[in-house]
Amino acid sequence: MKVIIADKISERGVQLLKEQPGWNVVLTTKDNLNVEMADADALIVRSATKVTAELLELAPKLRAVGRAGVGVDNIDLEAATKRGVLVMSTPGGNAVSVAEHTFALLLALARQVPRLDKAIHEGRWEKSTAAGTEVRGKTLGLIGLGRIGSEVAVRAEAFDMRVLAYDPFISEAAAREVSVELVPLDILLAQSDFVSLHTALSPATLNLINSSTIAKMKKGARVINAARGELIDEAALAAALKSGQLSGAAVDVFAEEPPKNSPLIGLSNFIATPHVAGSTTEAQEEVGTQVAVQIKDSQRGELARTFCRSVPARAALSRAGRAPRVAGFASRGDTPGAHPHSLCGRSGRGRHAPAPQRGARRRPQCSAG
Ligand code: MLT
Repeated sequence: MKVIIADKISERGVQLLKEQPGWNVVLTTKDNLNVEMADADALIVRSATKVTAELLELAPKLRAVGRAGVGVDNIDLEAATKRGVLVMSTPGGNAVSVAEHTFALLLALARQVPRLDKAIHEGRWEKSTAAGTEVRGKTLGLIGLGRIGSEVAVRAEAFDMRVLAYDPFISEAAAREVSVELVPLDILLAQSDFVSLHTALSPATLNLINSSTIAKMKKGARVINAARGELIDEAALAAALKSGQLSGAAVDVFAEEPPKNSPLIGLSNFIATPHVAGSTTEAQEEVGTQVAVQIKDSQRGELARTFCRSVPARAALSRAGRAPRVAGFASRGDTPGAHPHSLCGRSGRGRHAPAPQRGARRRPQCSAG
């Protein structure tokens, strides 16, 4: 059994795989990945490695791809499904980290932290120009109320924000659990002071924030995106930031990463970080371990024994018997909100995470089973 680890995952995850009797665990670089694929049974990636149809062609024995992270947009799901390769991701493993980063961006926007920090370093004391805004009493609109969106909602409540969400896959009852009001997209856009994106990239969500949806937003609203860059039409966002239709935007993701020609770069009311929302020690430890357990279980025909059991994965199990050969965790996502996050409750915590702290009582538990 040969497992290729193409992108860096936690040492604990690597160890777990190495401990399996008879398993050959190979840590590759981009340069020798193609050669190593020839006799690989399983492949583990993060976001850097693109699992294309061409790469899959090179691996006739491949049975599983594990993505240490949430989004599977770097994997050609159709090609994987055609070849009978199971694709798994680790929804929840970095949900808290991404939610916390979303709040970092939101508060940085509200209080203009980067501009003021830069001024201090450049020797200016810009106290008189620092007209920030409180978030208390403001409306936060979440597009996508899966694991990450729900973690954001829980934190927003502590800031006394009113939280709306648009997510066609979430029930009213589940939204109520996190004190969120489910509304149609147009209402969310019209009423929100802050709009934050927490949905997967799919044909239906590509450029979801564009000139027409921006026109429906409250004048002076702010946009946050720690999900996928392609959810936003960057030219339309830049125009709205220049015209004042939007007063600010903060993103962790770009359509092209690193951004080369983004019209957003250089705008004074635009804040950005380099796709690091999930990059905490805790989240990387969690997703690395989760993906290793998933690969181990899938190879033993014990798929979905651990973590939340995804609806597609369970359907796949019953169709294909012990070891389904379809894109399991990743086979949905063609509609706004249809994110892997949304598939099985929103605890946002894997079994390796510490026990929930006080105040976490309203987080719905993972509905495995
Ligand atoms: C994810 O999909 O898990 C996040 O975007 C984190 C990442 O890929 O770096």
